[in-house]
Amino acid sequence: MRGIEMVAKTRVVVLISGGGSNLQALIDACAQSHFPAQIVCVISNNPDAGGLEKAQRAGIKTRVIDHRDYESREAFDVALQAALVAAQAQLVCLAGFMRLLTSAFVRVWEGKMLNIHPSLLPSFKGLHTHSQALDAGVKWHGCTVHIVVPEMDAGPIVVQAVVPVLPEDNAQTLGARVLEQEHMIYPQALKWLAQGSLDVDGVQVMLKTPVKIPYSQGNPSED
Ligand code: GRF
Repeated sequence: MRGIEMVAKTRVVVLISGGGSNLQALIDACAQSHFPAQIVCVISNNPDAGGLEKAQRAGIKTRVIDHRDYESREAFDVALQAALVAAQAQLVCLAGFMRLLTSAFVRVWEGKMLNIHPSLLPSFKGLHTHSQALDAGVKWHGCTVHIVVPEMDAGPIVVQAVVPVLPEDNAQTLGARVLEQEHMIYPQALKWLAQGSLDVDGVQVMLKTPVKIPYSQGNPSED
């Protein structure tokens, strides 16, 4: 009897520093049987990161690599790289990971590391992006998943989501609206990368195959 050919899920390590709501969105997506990726380890540079508990609740291995234990960025990144190798990571997702990575580390993971940033890049890099958006008076704001390159908050853009900026918004209300969208687009971007659907040409990222719409097996007479 011939068995059904099974394709192994891509092994992903998620790096966090904080609460981990994006991590949770990735955990939920990866829990679906047809999702092409699995989270094999969550690494935090912050021992108090709330995301560690989220990972543990989902039965995912966690590690803390506290940057304060290392004398330089280079030394921290060497330890991080060793942990990724030990986890047999194939892809890396930065999900609220608040450390700058060295160029040497980033180059090892070129094309295989995603980040989510809470603004419509290239606008509003760095911290306090929602305040930056309010201060600039923009009418639309959003979030970006991009491929990580050595320059901070740069790199080929995989997907963005846009939200309106409302007259009564403050950084908290605007941030909450953006975060909701982050949770939608990060799993989508990971899915595309894990299944090999992304074609990267310079700064352009294209989907290799058209997005398939899951048609139901409806009665043709109802079309
Ligand atoms: C998110 O807004 C993410 O885009 C930014 O930091 C925040 C982290 O949130 N880099 P969480 O830890 O995923 O809840």
